[in-house]
Amino acid sequence: MKSMTSYACRVCGYISQKWLGKCPECGEWGTLEEITTSVSSSKKESRASHSPEKPTALLKASEDFHRFVTHIEEFNRVLGGGIVDGSLVLLSGEPGIGKSTLMLHLCESFLSQEKKVLYVSGEESVGQIAQRAKRLSVNEKLNILYSTTIESILSTALEEKPNFLVIDSVQVMYSSDLNSVPGSIPQIRAVTEQCMEFAKTHHIPILLIGHVTKEGELAGPRLLEHLVDVVLYLEGNRDQSIRILKAFKNRFGPSDEIGIFSMENEGLKEMSTPTSFFIEDQADAFGTAITAINEGSRTFFVEVQALVTYSKFGYPKRTVSGIDLNRLNIILAVLSKYANMHFDSYDVYVSTVGDFKTQDKSVDLAIALALISSKLQKPLPLQTVAFGEIGLTGNIRGSLGQEKRIKEALRTGFKHIITPSYSGISKNKEMMIVKNVFEALNLVFGSQKKE
Ligand code: TYD
Ligand code: MG
Repeated sequence: MKSMTSYACRVCGYISQKWLGKCPECGEWGTLEEITTSVSSSKKESRASHSPEKPTALLKASEDFHRFVTHIEEFNRVLGGGIVDGSLVLLSGEPGIGKSTLMLHLCESFLSQEKKVLYVSGEESVGQIAQRAKRLSVNEKLNILYSTTIESILSTALEEKPNFLVIDSVQVMYSSDLNSVPGSIPQIRAVTEQCMEFAKTHHIPILLIGHVTKEGELAGPRLLEHLVDVVLYLEGNRDQSIRILKAFKNRFGPSDEIGIFSMENEGLKEMSTPTSFFIEDQADAFGTAITAINEGSRTFFVEVQALVTYSKFGYPKRTVSGIDLNRLNIILAVLSKYANMHFDSYDVYVSTVGDFKTQDKSVDLAIALALISSKLQKPLPLQTVAFGEIGLTGNIRGSLGQEKRIKEALRTGFKHIITPSYSGISKNKEMMIVKNVFEALNLVFGSQKKE
């Protein structure tokens, strides 16, 4: 065996043989750190030292995962039915968003089903965790350990044999085999790999907490994604109570389901009717439009708010929250070109209620309508929902799941459903079919002149 030096990016885990100032993968500066790995001197020699293994025929391979079903339905949904035995789950999110709180609720779920739980924290003292656990009414049988050495944590776990192990957080843990500092790439990798091996060998599910900054940086989940079975994100705005749990990767289930919680004094509460939670009650307000977003098996009605004001400076501002800035710029350009709505001398702010983040492009139409509504100072008719992707030619098209959006909107009781035509559905009195942005503008705000 000989050792080899290479360099790994702290942000995305990119490996380079030589040091570089800028990571070619994620474009960050000064993030490459030296790592040392042991390599076998010859491939042939290394192959000879391994005996061949026997593959399993598909016919005989079974895929029966045993899952522990928690009492938190929103959590089960995101995981695809519960926590799989021996899986390593990474829960990431910004500091203070509620990761430790969610974990304590999960612990309670195991404890209430007569299971043993070990909660290891390297961030807070046993007293601090106990105080919070009591506040959250967690069963007193919870075992708490303050430790930062992964070897000692895993040997304690081996002794205690818990049914569920929580490690809070990966950034403060270190392996005594390495001499780099906790939170560095080699440490994070070593800690995660040891957890994975332990979970698989002893069939104990492990939940690893990882912090990320707003940009998803700081040896965050991006580096760990391929080292764990499931990657969950807990998101939200710390000034608001809504928290959204998303699966980014899931080896045992879907990765498009989301769970909705609200952070209350008694901890995280599941939202029992989350589909209309992202709507503020604002009768007759202008600058707002409701859209329907499909996430996993559910449709969410989300309010888009826009503020369009005269720009005091030569360079107008564009500020977004929850939606993509590029998307906004495209919509502004399309409205200018095809709907005679110009925003060149206006500052524009657009956000979704609860900072609901989505990749769903059918939010476009609601963004466009909210922008126009703010500019014209005219509200949309009450009980209106609008969805459709806006193309570069100003056309509005339906996207996957259009039928589901319409059905859910009808079921929820919206009076006006503004949607592009969709072959699968017969028109009814609530539906207003629009082909392009100019048509949508006229239909909603009355006839406008086209230049
Ligand atoms: P925490 O779970 O410690 O966040 P993380 O582990 O992601 O860093 O949550 C901390 C925040 O949650 C803190 O600002 C207080 C708030 N909180 C509540 O509002 N209610 C509660 O019952 C608890 C336990 C925390
Ligand atoms: Mg915490």
